[in-house]
Amino acid sequence: DLKSYHVFVVMGASGDLAKKKIYPTLWWLYRDNLLPKKTFFLGYARSKLDIKDFLTQKCRQYMKVKPDEEEKFNEWVSKNHYLAGSYDQSESFAQLNSKIVEISRFYEPETDDANRIFYLALPPSVYTSVTQLLSENCKAKKPHFTRVIVEKPFGKDSKSSSELSTHLSKLFTEEQIYRIDHYLGKEMVQNLIVLRFANQIFKRIWNRDSIENVSITFKEPFGTQGRGGYFDEFGIIRDVMQNHLLQILSLVAMESPISKNAEEIRNEKVKVLRSIPEIKLEDVVLGQYVGNPNGQGDEKMGYLDDPTVPAGSNTPTFCCAILKIKNERWDGVPFILKSGKALNERKAEIRIQFKEVSGDIFDNSCARNELVIRVQPDEAVYMKISTKKPGINFNPLETELDLTYKHRYDGEYMPDAYERLILDVFLGSQLNFVRTDELAEAWRIFTPLLHKLEKENIKPIPYVYGSRGLPEADELCAKVGKYTYNKN
Ligand code: BG6
Repeated sequence: DLKSYHVFVVMGASGDLAKKKIYPTLWWLYRDNLLPKKTFFLGYARSKLDIKDFLTQKCRQYMKVKPDEEEKFNEWVSKNHYLAGSYDQSESFAQLNSKIVEISRFYEPETDDANRIFYLALPPSVYTSVTQLLSENCKAKKPHFTRVIVEKPFGKDSKSSSELSTHLSKLFTEEQIYRIDHYLGKEMVQNLIVLRFANQIFKRIWNRDSIENVSITFKEPFGTQGRGGYFDEFGIIRDVMQNHLLQILSLVAMESPISKNAEEIRNEKVKVLRSIPEIKLEDVVLGQYVGNPNGQGDEKMGYLDDPTVPAGSNTPTFCCAILKIKNERWDGVPFILKSGKALNERKAEIRIQFKEVSGDIFDNSCARNELVIRVQPDEAVYMKISTKKPGINFNPLETELDLTYKHRYDGEYMPDAYERLILDVFLGSQLNFVRTDELAEAWRIFTPLLHKLEKENIKPIPYVYGSRGLPEADELCAKVGKYTYNKN
């Protein structure tokens, strides 16, 4: 119902996430006229602050306001309001409710409420009380809607995550809960469904008969950057693998959905996750970065040199894991997930290696085909194929059918992941959000391994800041099949 007023409430408005991501995203959506016209914004946090000063002074550096956008920017700022209150007192939430009604009436005297979206940009420690009090005090009057956006971590293992899910499900319906996994807002991740199900050529070869292995890689060229205290509680598996990489895997591996309806797609994602057995210790290689004495600045700092990381921590900052999918389509095809901090480059990509050419007449000189979907940086889809080496010869040469976005779609506006996802919440589309059962399956796959690592205090292998990866990870991949890794 886009005719009513909408209020977007940022819970934790004074925090880092709000400052660096949420407010800038709201501004970009407003700037591009993508939000319903009748929308206002309300920040909520414990500290007293002047929201106009906060947006124009503290947030502005993240907002990329162009000189000719000043007027529009001020217009957006003027639609922002703020209320200070606690995270655990009913009275504060009653005040929040009154404030929403009061502002709605200010904008539209005829109305008695607005559609309400609450973004929880908060530490997990206050999740339970905030959601409880929101549900008791701040739900919109029907027919207006209430939607709640939650950020990870969604628990730390199966048990804690299921407790959180049970808690939320008592307060809100599944249709009201939007669990953000920002990888689902990335262009190339969203493209997976189109590539797979809008191309007959891919449909036929997307299985164990043609595919040798699939690898999904996430690399970052920096360490914990002062976030060591947070990171150490979670580690790389919980930070990016159990969520971002597994979400990508489910989109790559799921069966064809009945339609592009969000529930149909999420049903298929859950189904494929259910076909994945728990990961065992022998299926992983774990690493932790150490400083590079010849590096510059931060590169000299190992994980354990971060003062916020507890001494002697065994938390992994790198993990390579082999997942198996026990179903008709994928039986025997290794899915290799790799993720690491403080490596040699920033890269997220999906690499599908095909089987060798059958009945090869070129004396084994044909490289295997590969389809690469580069999520970032520099979005691209490219297919490695063999072609005749140009000139007077008859030899195959490996080359690429290359769809690099910056060449093909130069100038096309590519919204940030958060922009797409927040817009989806306004529109009520849950396609790119994680459903409770998906989350439970994701934890089921990783929980036994995580518990074993913690109980037995298993030591990760040290690697130097800036490494390509771990040779032990390459060896693990080589063991599971004909995996050829690229030089990087
Ligand atoms: C977050 C992780 O979810 O994703 C971070 O907590 C990581 O550790 C980040 O750096 C990566 O996101 P992006 O969009 O920069 O690839």
